Amino acid sequence: MTDASLQPVPVDDVVVGLKGAMRRLASGVAIIAALGDDAPVGMAATSITSLTMDPPAILVCVNRSASIHAHLSAGCPISINLLSRHQREVSAAFGGAVARELRFGVGSWSRDHHDLPILEEAQANLSCTIDSLIPYGTHSIVIARVEAVRIGEAVDPLIFQDGAYL
Ligand SMILES: Cc1cc2nc3c(=O)[nH]c(=O)nc-3n(C[C@H](O)[C@H](O)[C@H](O)COP(=O)(O)O)c2cc1C
Repeated sequence: MTDASLQPVPVDDVVVGLKGAMRRLASGVAIIAALGDDAPVGMAATSITSLTMDPPAILVCVNRSASIHAHLSAGCPISINLLSRHQREVSAAFGGAVARELRFGVGSWSRDHHDLPILEEAQANLSCTIDSLIPYGTHSIVIARVEAVRIGEAVDPLIFQDGAYL
């Protein structure tokens, strides 16, 4: 059975079509934090997926042009902080609205056992170690082993959809 309301996108416009399609995929938002040279580095990401439970692992896709990318390699610790609905300002800051060196001034951050920043009042903090990076096109698929988890009480995540927060 076909849905007459769905319109095919011309083959030469497949990137435009893919962007339009992905705007219709609602995603939770996370902040990825890593240890930089002198200070922590971080960016906002929606490309978080739980990969396996055995071993406990997660993946995130990071553009190689993002400043955090230079600090990601196998064996490096990273924290993945799943945002709560009221933390859209944190998402915007780590999405590029705030200068890199000032981002951790937005939101309330403490430290995990790796001395990595973890975000208070988030939905969850995942403390991880990177297992591997798989290059693909403009991005790297970062696979990280989850070592410690902190979760909040209420399930009330920040959702990004159609270029905006719900
Ligand atoms: C809601 C949201 C989701 C994002 N998801 C990703 C993502 O999954 N992967 C990625 O590489 N960049 C993603 N970005 C873009 C980066 O957060 C943004 O380019 C960031 O500024 C890059 O860091 P830099 O300024 O330190 O280079 C996202 C941005 C926003 C606002």
